[in-house]
Formats: sequence, C-alpha cells, structure tokens
Amino acid sequence: MDLGLAGRKAIVTGGSKGLGKAIAAELLTEGASVVICSRHAAELEETAADLAKQAAGGGGTVHAMVCDVTDPDQVISFTRAAVAALGGLDILVNNAGGARPGQFGTLTDDDWHDDIEVKLFSQIRCTRAALPELRRSTAARVININAVYARYPDPAFLASSVNRASCLSLSKALSIELGREGILVNSVNIGLVETPQWENIHQRRAPDLPAEQFFGQLAAAEVPLRRFGRPDEVAGLVTFLASDRASYIAGASIDIAGGMGKFL
Ligand SMILES: NC(=O)c1ccc[n+]([C@@H]2O[C@H](COP(=O)([O-])OP(=O)(O)OC[C@H]3O[C@@H](n4cnc5c(N)ncnc54)[C@H](OP(=O)(O)O)[C@@H]3O)[C@@H](O)[C@H]2O)c1
Repeated sequence: MDLGLAGRKAIVTGGSKGLGKAIAAELLTEGASVVICSRHAAELEETAADLAKQAAGGGGTVHAMVCDVTDPDQVISFTRAAVAALGGLDILVNNAGGARPGQFGTLTDDDWHDDIEVKLFSQIRCTRAALPELRRSTAARVININAVYARYPDPAFLASSVNRASCLSLSKALSIELGREGILVNSVNIGLVETPQWENIHQRRAPDLPAEQFFGQLAAAEVPLRRFGRPDEVAGLVTFLASDRASYIAGASIDIAGGMGKFL
C-alpha cells in the first residue's frame, strides 16, 4: 500500500524515546521529513542520529530541537524553527507527555496543574502554533496521542484520566472546526505500551521483579490480549492516519490497547 507520505513534513513532540521515537522512525521510513522535540538535548541528539541511520534511503530528513511543550514561548519558537527546517508542515503529532500516578487524596493542586499543562495545554498550544502552516498544506493532519483512561478512568491515575478526557473532547471539537478547512484531527488512545515511562514505573514499584513478570502480571489483569503493546504497533496506526489512505478519517477516537477498557 502506498501511503503517499514521501516528501511530507512532520513534527512529533516528545520524539526522543518511546512512542514518539517509534512514530518518527515509521514516518521517516515512509519518506517523510521529521522534526522531533523533547526537553533534554543530549538524548535528543542521540535519538536523531539513530533515526537518521534508520531513515537512510527513505528520502526524508530528521532534525532534533529542544522544546518544553509546557512553555508557551518555547512552543512558538520551536514551531517556527521546525517549519523553517522542514520548509512547511503537513503533520503534527502531539505525543509529548507522561503518566502521573496518584489517587484523589494524594494529588495536590500543583499535581493537577502540572498534568493538565503537559497533556491538554501542550496539545492546545502546539496545534495553535502549527495552524498557519497546516492551513497551507493540502494534506494536513493533527494526531493527538491520548489514553484509554480518558474513556475508562482509573482512580490510581486520576489526574491523567480526567485530563485525558479533556484532550479527547479537544480532539473532537477541533476535528469539527478544522475539518471544514480540510485539516483532519484524530485521537489515538493508548492502553499499556512498553516504553521508558513504564520501565521507570517498573523500577519504582517492583525493581526485583523481572520485567517479563511485572508487565505480564499487569497485562493479565487488564488487557484481553494479555500483553503490553509495542511502540511500533502504535507507530503503524499513527503513520496510517497521517497518510493519504486515511483521507476520510476525521474526528475518530481509536483505541490501541489490546482490547483493554470495559466500555462501548
Ligand atoms: N506508554 C503507555 O502505556 C501510554 C499510555 C497512555 C498514554 N501514553 C501517552 O503517550 C505519550 C508517549 O508516552 P511514552 O510512553 O512514549 O512516554 P516516554 O517513554 O516517557 O516518552 C515521553 C516523551 O515525551 C517527552 N516529554 C515529556 N514531557 C515533555 C515536555 N514537557 N516537553 C517536551 N517533551 C516532553 C519525553 O522527553 P523528555 O522527558 O526528555 O522531555 C519523551 O521524549 C505520552 O503523552 C503518554 O502520556 C502512553
């Protein structure tokens, strides 16, 4: 299947590792050019070098730029620099973020504020900054990485669940408003996928338990497919949504979660 992504220009926030890195790799393989960002320069540079090797022959280029997506000024200057490096913009993948464990009784106002900044406000600000360039594209896409907890709240990840629900609402509302201009907005809702953020949770919760056992037990309790997902399984869906083959998909909320979540 020709995805028609050769020559397309993409920003992937939070592209230094985990899902963002896998998404950037897949887009590059399809011939798109990609700018990734995160907060830590050394890791970003290492990832960009890795991605450039993987992309060799695909025709696309990769750039890495430091940006904290919770800082409004940085988002504006990063987007400007990314668009200049790419020579335009077709695809924005709002992926940067992280889990915030915590139940109602333990979460402070600061926890709630920090979490909503990195989840909802980063998607708002990055989309706002990208819009002028997306409006010039003939195949504009915004893909928001969310969580199944948006639709199936987990009291142990309460702030994440509530704030992800607001991200889902943002995606739907934007898909209606921007769909009229030909900009396709969709949400990809992650269940449990093994990335560095989960490796950290493993180290915090049960450092002595072998990874296979730790992830296996969690998955058996929550996931009908009885395993964690892999980043490349998410990257395939995101790349498809970015492509010409998804030209009539807008306002969709797609779970990639191995069947996790008891809802319709
Ligand atoms: N993996 C899962 O099971 C799962 C489940 C539900 C939702 N998600 C969502 O999927 C997305 C990717 O998660 P992941 O599992 O790949 O996490 P990860 O392995 O921790 O990677 C997160 C990426 O986001 C970057 N990032 C975090 N905060 C940032 C900020 N303020 N500004 C710029 N970059 C930032 C990180 O780099 P720096 O820290 O260096 O900035 C890193 O590149 C997140 O939004 C996460 O909430 C994941």
